[in-house]
Amino acid sequence: MTDMPQTPASDTENSQIWDPALRAFHWLLVLAVVGGWLLGHFGPLKMTLHFWAGYTVIALLLFRLVWGVIGPRNARFASFIKGPGAVIAYARTLGARKASGAAGHNPLGGWSVVALLAVLAAQVATGLIVDPEDYINTGPLAEQVSADWNRWALGMHHKLGVVLLVLVGLHVGAIFFYRFWKREDLVTPMITGRKRR
Ligand code: HEM
Ligand code: HEM
Repeated sequence: MTDMPQTPASDTENSQIWDPALRAFHWLLVLAVVGGWLLGHFGPLKMTLHFWAGYTVIALLLFRLVWGVIGPRNARFASFIKGPGAVIAYARTLGARKASGAAGHNPLGGWSVVALLAVLAAQVATGLIVDPEDYINTGPLAEQVSADWNRWALGMHHKLGVVLLVLVGLHVGAIFFYRFWKREDLVTPMITGRKRR
């Protein structure tokens, strides 16, 4: 007999990988970002709602920053932001037709999370100081910065809207790739919190 620590079989086979707060964060973020994006495009009459969707995203991002430091292990940035060595080693295994087995974000997925959060932060920051000089759709902090910054923010806010669309497309594409190529279901754990491993 060895002294190996014993883990109940049910824990290793079907363990919780995403905590409830992180799951709520994710699905609320999806609602607020999709809603905000559509309202941004189909404004300007819906701009007040667009702003509220944006404020929701700001609150969610602030929560995620805190959770990334004090949250459970898989939510912590330190647990999934990996150096180039780990990313390259993982990328080499990407084509293999088998599940990654990752108990949280894999090294490549970790950076896609950082990219999504960073672009969202830039999107809301530029939104706050946008001034299209139409006296309607002016960001609430536009007067705090110069007209040059207002114009720069306007261009960036529009461009970032496209970047976000591409990133979300890649994000959902990656989930499909895992589901159908690697036969790994990532969506159920983001709903129930639990992953069969
Ligand atoms: C506007 C659309 C979306 C945004 C902005 C978004 C953003 C994110 C972010 C930031 C994370 C990282 C979670 C964290 O640790 O904080 C994440 C993870 C995840 N998202 Fe989304 N998401 C979007 C749409 C979707 C959709 C439509 C699905 C389902 C098809 C989905 C499924 C997932 C899954 C399964 C994960 C976990 C991936 C893993 O196992 O590493 N997301 N998403
Ligand atoms: C993740 C959050 C956000 C997303 C996805 C988003 C997206 C968009 C999009 C797609 C547009 C239309 C751009 C175009 O016509 O090409 C837009 C316009 C605009 N957004 Fe946002 N936005 C967000 C947050 C915010 C926030 C927080 C504010 C300010 C409180 C804001 C203020 C504006 C304003 C003032 C415009 C109109 C600019 C114009 O008239 O051209 N946005 N946004």
